Amino acid sequence: MLIRTPKSSEIKENQVTDEHVYQNRRQLLKSMGFLGASALLTNQHASASSWFGGGDDETFKTSALEFSQPKHFQSEDVLTPEQKIISHNNFYEFGTGKADPVTNSQSFKVDPWSLTIDGLVEKPITLGYDDLYKGFDLEERIYRLRCVEAWSMVVPWIGFSLADLIKKANPLSSAKYVVFDTLYDPEQMPGQRNRFSGGGIDYPYVEGLRLDEAMHPLTLMSVGLYGKTLPPQNGAPIRLVVPWKYGFKSIKSVVRIRLTDKKPTTTWEQLAANEYGFYANVNPQVDHPRWTQASERRITTGGLFSRNRIATQMFNGYPEVATLYTNMDLRKNY
Ligand code: MTE
Repeated sequence: MLIRTPKSSEIKENQVTDEHVYQNRRQLLKSMGFLGASALLTNQHASASSWFGGGDDETFKTSALEFSQPKHFQSEDVLTPEQKIISHNNFYEFGTGKADPVTNSQSFKVDPWSLTIDGLVEKPITLGYDDLYKGFDLEERIYRLRCVEAWSMVVPWIGFSLADLIKKANPLSSAKYVVFDTLYDPEQMPGQRNRFSGGGIDYPYVEGLRLDEAMHPLTLMSVGLYGKTLPPQNGAPIRLVVPWKYGFKSIKSVVRIRLTDKKPTTTWEQLAANEYGFYANVNPQVDHPRWTQASERRITTGGLFSRNRIATQMFNGYPEVATLYTNMDLRKNY
């Protein structure tokens, strides 16, 4: 399915659909039996300009996307309200505080964008901004995102399988791992200009997956959430979402995807390998050295400090990925 290519200037005030209207519409469609058919929804909202505070002069504009809603990616979980998803973020390139990304990223330029897939592939490819939305069937997938800091959200992501992207480049049989890089642009990303405000990270932020994890049908390249293109604080224009792993694997604003035969060293392994492993599978039985991972604070409607604590599930409640780790000691390979 082709979709209308969003342009950052397209959204109009009269297209506003706020989050509770979105939720109600979902409920209505569900009760009418529409969700899961290829219901083609166009959900729009104005950018969050009415409430974004912040240091930037301009406010980032998101655009409506068209997408299908496969039944198996719907969920009974209560969605985290949109305002919380787009205002409580980890994106150290824009600062280490939870409110820093939304404050410092509103003038981030995503068009033009360049995403290269190269390394051990037969056919390296480079996608521009428009290509991120064309040539892929965009799907809405409601995934839980469990942060290693023991909070979690339920997000209606929009995107396509990473496998579909990797297949376009024809991986060589020698490829075993996939390495992802975030944009390096200290002019736009204040955290990259200063080691202290950037959390001590040696940028660019790097993440990695085993090739079979990358090819798993749950692994998503996301270009949107709540019906619209991603705002910068959530990783515009394209970010990874691996729902059975801790949130730090879900690298944002990706510019390069490289296939390799060697296990890469990821940003968080570089910073503290004893705390943040390569696998980072959500596992309530393996605690972080400084806190338990047995439960999590689900961010729903109750405010960031509400006591909505629930038990964490193995693989974040995606048991279908267990076969990727047969015969592996998940205490050692944390
Ligand atoms: N990607 C980059 N480039 N920089 C980051 O600091 N933070 C990670 C991940 N991706 C991060 C990143 C962490 S720790 C989490 S929990 C998730 O993004 C948060 O995604 P969200 O803000 O969309 O909830």
